[in-house]
Amino acid sequence: TLIFGGQVVSPQGAAPADVLIDGEIVTAVLAPGAADALDVQADRRIDATGKYVLPGGIDVHTHMDMPFGGTFSVDDFETGTRAAAWGGTTTIVDFAVQKKGGSLQEAVDTWHAKAEGRASIDYGFHAILADVNETSLKEMDVLVDQGVSSFKLFMAYPGVFLSTDDQIIQAMFRAADNGATIMMHAENGAAIDQIVSRAVADGHTEPKYHGLTRPIALEAEAVNRATQMADVTGAPLYFVHLSSGDAVDVVAKARDEGRNVFGETCPQYLFLDESDLARPDFEGAKYVCTPALRPVEEQAKLWRGIRTNDLSVVATDHCPFCFTPDKQLGRDDFRAIPNGLPGVEHRMDLLHMGVTKGEISLARWVEIAAATPARMFGMYPKKGVIAPGSDADIVIYDPAATQIVSAQTHHMNVDYSVYEGWEFTGKVETVLSRGEVILENEHFSGALGRGKFIKRDLSQYLV
Ligand code: URP
Ligand code: ZN
Ligand code: ZN
Ligand code: ZN
Repeated sequence: TLIFGGQVVSPQGAAPADVLIDGEIVTAVLAPGAADALDVQADRRIDATGKYVLPGGIDVHTHMDMPFGGTFSVDDFETGTRAAAWGGTTTIVDFAVQKKGGSLQEAVDTWHAKAEGRASIDYGFHAILADVNETSLKEMDVLVDQGVSSFKLFMAYPGVFLSTDDQIIQAMFRAADNGATIMMHAENGAAIDQIVSRAVADGHTEPKYHGLTRPIALEAEAVNRATQMADVTGAPLYFVHLSSGDAVDVVAKARDEGRNVFGETCPQYLFLDESDLARPDFEGAKYVCTPALRPVEEQAKLWRGIRTNDLSVVATDHCPFCFTPDKQLGRDDFRAIPNGLPGVEHRMDLLHMGVTKGEISLARWVEIAAATPARMFGMYPKKGVIAPGSDADIVIYDPAATQIVSAQTHHMNVDYSVYEGWEFTGKVETVLSRGEVILENEHFSGALGRGKFIKRDLSQYLV
């Protein structure tokens, strides 16, 4: 296959080039016209004139088919990976959830069973450490050898996922030993639960109180605490879903000191804000995720963090629940609203909006959405780059096309969109996964189960 006439975008910038693919692999990136001069015979020629040619997006934070609050996130590996592909994402890394009293291996085996035969794009797993004990600490080493080289811990959700500081520090010592990355959900959950109880006792049960009871200070406090523990232990530390400028400031300071501390944010924190939680008729429930959406002025601070690389990855935290019935569980009490937003389909487009609005460059777009996620989670250069030897995961993106987002037309298995009615400039035109065209002409053809598990290495950013 030869993709010709487009602008190939990488973290170094955009340049006109043609991409030659043999089977599943990129074999050459050629100067325009060189393919003809070399008399390259291609079975298939794809015209990308006027389009961007991007490494496929890598979303390192999704929750497919995840049990939560008595229900399950509504995208499974079939619908979720298909929706991802529609949005220009060709790799996801999903979270295998350890059960309390269960083993990490059991969690990963369960996730393999969920994904195998269903995923249409490639996928890897992180493991959620929900029960840190002698056994699960030992299992961390075993999972690293299986290509599950990152472990999420929670400072939030007491009684569900929360790890106490003694557990966190043990997991960090282990990670410092085996090189795994600790991923942290940084919010002071015990303190937040007290604030939540006070609000509910005062009769404040509407969705907006989900936001009002989770102050930024208790995110920044947890980020600081985890950063200090990582310093003491030497563990590589990656903060998931950072939502506030104060949290980013803590990360920035640690990075300035040369530490292996990294930050991720999500499109919802860049484009939505706390006023969405106050929408009437219980619509605010559609916007309940954790950390909560913040005051609108935080958005500019997060964009700045992306530019300074204190935030180096943008992932979705895709965790969809239907408005009816799932979110209705919390009609009378926001505590019972399943936490999470749908978003896996829209990350590339939303970040492209960051480009058109002048928040980031084209090069930075590809860096935060593909190249850095691949390096951060040990998949580079198989994924995240268009270069000889890399998997031909390629997106042809039309920067001039427009689209209007709606739950009527999106491909996620959820009955609402947090971006309903938004007009995006830019649209995915063609998607190749390991050399196979799986999306073109508004038609998806990726076979069920063609996606492969990616056995990941350690982070490629450790010093
Ligand atoms: O609200 C969210 N983010 N749900 C998913 C679980 C998590 O904490 O990432
Ligand atoms: Zn989280
Ligand atoms: Zn009230
Ligand atoms: Zn998450």
